[in-house]
Parts: sequence; structure tokens; C-alpha cells
Amino acid sequence: MADPQALTIRFSAESDASRLEELQRGSWLPRVTPAGPYRPRSFFDHHRPEEVLVAVSDAVPIGYLVVRRASQMASRAHVASIEGLGVAAAARRRGVAGALLQAAERVAAERGFTRLTLHVLSCNVAALALYARHGFETEGVLRGEFQLPVGPGGAMASVDDILLAKRVA
Ligand SMILES: CC(C)(COP(=O)(O)OP(=O)(O)OC[C@H]1O[C@@H](n2cnc3c(N)ncnc32)[C@H](O)[C@@H]1OP(=O)(O)O)[C@@H](O)C(=O)NCCC(=O)NCCS
Repeated sequence: MADPQALTIRFSAESDASRLEELQRGSWLPRVTPAGPYRPRSFFDHHRPEEVLVAVSDAVPIGYLVVRRASQMASRAHVASIEGLGVAAAARRRGVAGALLQAAERVAAERGFTRLTLHVLSCNVAALALYARHGFETEGVLRGEFQLPVGPGGAMASVDDILLAKRVA
């Protein structure tokens, strides 16, 4: 686990933009996202600062998580969605993502959401283990939803899109 004294979780600020883009780029792998090659773009073109939690160690952001309302439909106003999570490669397996997930659950509950959902690729073994450990359950599987270069030697392989969810209160 990360030293809780050394790790702070806070909301992002516009001044984090370049470091967040760097962290996002470092997590932009075929086993993580089906969106294809990374296209540089300003982080806050697609995220609002109050939707992004940042894990900071020694004043440096080392991880982030995006949690936002799942849609604008009134019928879905109780659902928040995790739409991005990444930890710097050098800082992994120290509990950073776990701390971000706990903070996201707290924030979602404080904002009145009762359900937290997310999508994860079946080839993303690390993320699947992380979410299972934090109590997320599989509620749906779109089988073979993507063809991605995650097979042996980068061969194309069939990948499922897995929908996970957790109740928050
Ligand atoms: C997935 C990811 C966010 C995990 O971040 P992390 O800070 O290393 O995770 P934690 O240290 O909090 O791990 C908590 C638990 O998750 C599981 N886990 C995390 N990484 C794992 C791995 N590589 N293999 C197996 N289990 C793993 C373990 O149960 C771990 O507990 P342990 O270290 O006591 O065994 C990180 O690997 C990452 O940034 N990957 C690229 C981006 C990504 O996949 N994002 C998720 C998109 S859905």
C-alpha cells in the first residue's frame, strides 16, 4: 500500500493539465482502451476539473480518476460513471488506484449518486483484479465487442467489453 502520509487525493485544477495528459498518455494502451492510437489533446477539453480526482505524492500527481454523472437523463441521475483511471507506471502496486477508487465512491455518495458503473476490457487483468478487490461486480459482458492487438506478439484478438457496477451510499 502507498504510505497514507505521503499520498493526497484532491480534485484537479487547470494547472494539472499537462501532467494529467502525460499520465493519460502513459495509460493509453491497447489492453486498456479500444480507442486506437493516442491522439494528443488538452486534458480539460474533455474533462471538468471537479470530475477528476488526482493522487499526489511529493507534490507530483501520480494518478488520476474521472468520475462523472453517467448521462443527463433524469431517469439515470442516480448513476455515476468512472470514465478514466491511470497510475504512473513507476507508482503502481502501491495502493494509489485503490485510494482513488475509495475517494471516488465517497465523492459519488456525497453528490447523491447511489450507483457507480464502468467499462473494462477483458484483457485488462490488472484493472479487473483491482475492481473485484474493491467490490465491483460484473453486470454485463459484450462478447467479442472489440478486435485489438493484444494477442501473442501483438496479434489481433477478440476482447470482451465488461460492465461493472457497485452500489454506493
Ligand atoms: C489498473 C491500475 C490503475 C492499477 O493501479 P495501481 O495503483 O497499481 O493499483 P493498486 O496498487 O491500488 O492495486 C490494488 C489491487 O489491484 C490488483 N492489481 C493491481 N494491479 C495488478 C496487476 N498488475 N496484476 C494483478 N492484480 C493487480 C491487486 O489486487 C492489487 O492489490 P495488491 O497490490 O495488494 O495485490 C494501473 O495498473 C494502471 O494505471 N493501468 C493502466 C490504466 C488502466 O488499466 N486503467 C483502468 C482502465 S478500466
